[in-house]
Amino acid sequence: MAGRMSGKRVLVTGAGSSGEGWGNGKAAAVLYAREGAQVLAADLRIEAAEETRDIIRAEGGACEVVAGNVAKSADCAAMVQACVDAFGGIDVLHNNVGIAETGGPVEASEESWNRVIAVNQTSVFLTCKHALPHMIAQQRGAIVNVSSIAGLRWIGFPYAAYSASKAAVLALTQNMALQYAAQGIRANCVLPGLMHTPMIKAPLVDSYGGDLDEMIAKRDRISPTGKMGDAWDTAYAALFLASDEARYINGVNLPVDGGLVARCA
Ligand SMILES: NC(=O)c1ccc[n+]([C@@H]2O[C@H](COP(=O)([O-])OP(=O)(O)OC[C@H]3O[C@@H](n4cnc5c(N)ncnc54)[C@H](O)[C@@H]3O)[C@@H](O)[C@H]2O)c1
Repeated sequence: MAGRMSGKRVLVTGAGSSGEGWGNGKAAAVLYAREGAQVLAADLRIEAAEETRDIIRAEGGACEVVAGNVAKSADCAAMVQACVDAFGGIDVLHNNVGIAETGGPVEASEESWNRVIAVNQTSVFLTCKHALPHMIAQQRGAIVNVSSIAGLRWIGFPYAAYSASKAAVLALTQNMALQYAAQGIRANCVLPGLMHTPMIKAPLVDSYGGDLDEMIAKRDRISPTGKMGDAWDTAYAALFLASDEARYINGVNLPVDGGLVARCA
């Protein structure tokens, strides 16, 4: 398929969606494929990855799936290997997986802290650990990590582990961007703001008072545009950063938030 990602072999983690509709990872996987990439869709739940694969194939794109938990090193190694086996290499690593658990140090359990740090933060270290040797060997590659504006700012309720993990992703990304810049490998972050995706529903509704419709209305009101963004907004930003159009863009944090982090109050 011709397109902005023609010839690219892309691994997307969390390429399914945690509920009906479009999550950030699912939209990114579909968009990469629409632009000509071969996509390896990885997910903890194979059926979620298969749903994304079926959408891509129905549109004439190329996609294979692999099951795995990004918090486990062996699974991350297997995801990278699946991409290499299916397509002959890996050009883009898109780290999408993230879980939302709320609470500050008093309310949140140690188990919750450890789970969020493992899934949101250590996972990025692990997938990069296994993907980078391939990119270094070919002296080419792009890493797109999905962080969050919660890694920069308080977003209205206690979100300690999530915010800390997303801030760590920013720092790790910048570190890798500079370490590998001279070897043709770029690393950048997308920072979604308040997005209307399946992921927000169950984990966040209590933090917004318990009513789903009111939560959605409130998140719309908070957005400078009067509306939350959606998964396609995140995916288009990632597409740009992953593509060769962004060949001189490295180590940046790109908010996709309608201007939320630029606002002082
Ligand atoms: N929706 C928002 O408002 C918002 C805002 C900022 C950042 N984000 C970030 O966007 C990313 C996810 O967005 P999404 O909409 O695609 O979420 P999602 O929950 O819809 O999809 C995530 C996918 O990851 C999979 N997954 C979960 N844990 C996994 C694990 N340990 N290993 C492998 N796969 C796993 C799930 O099965 C699911 O299919 C996260 O990093 C999140 O922090 C979202």
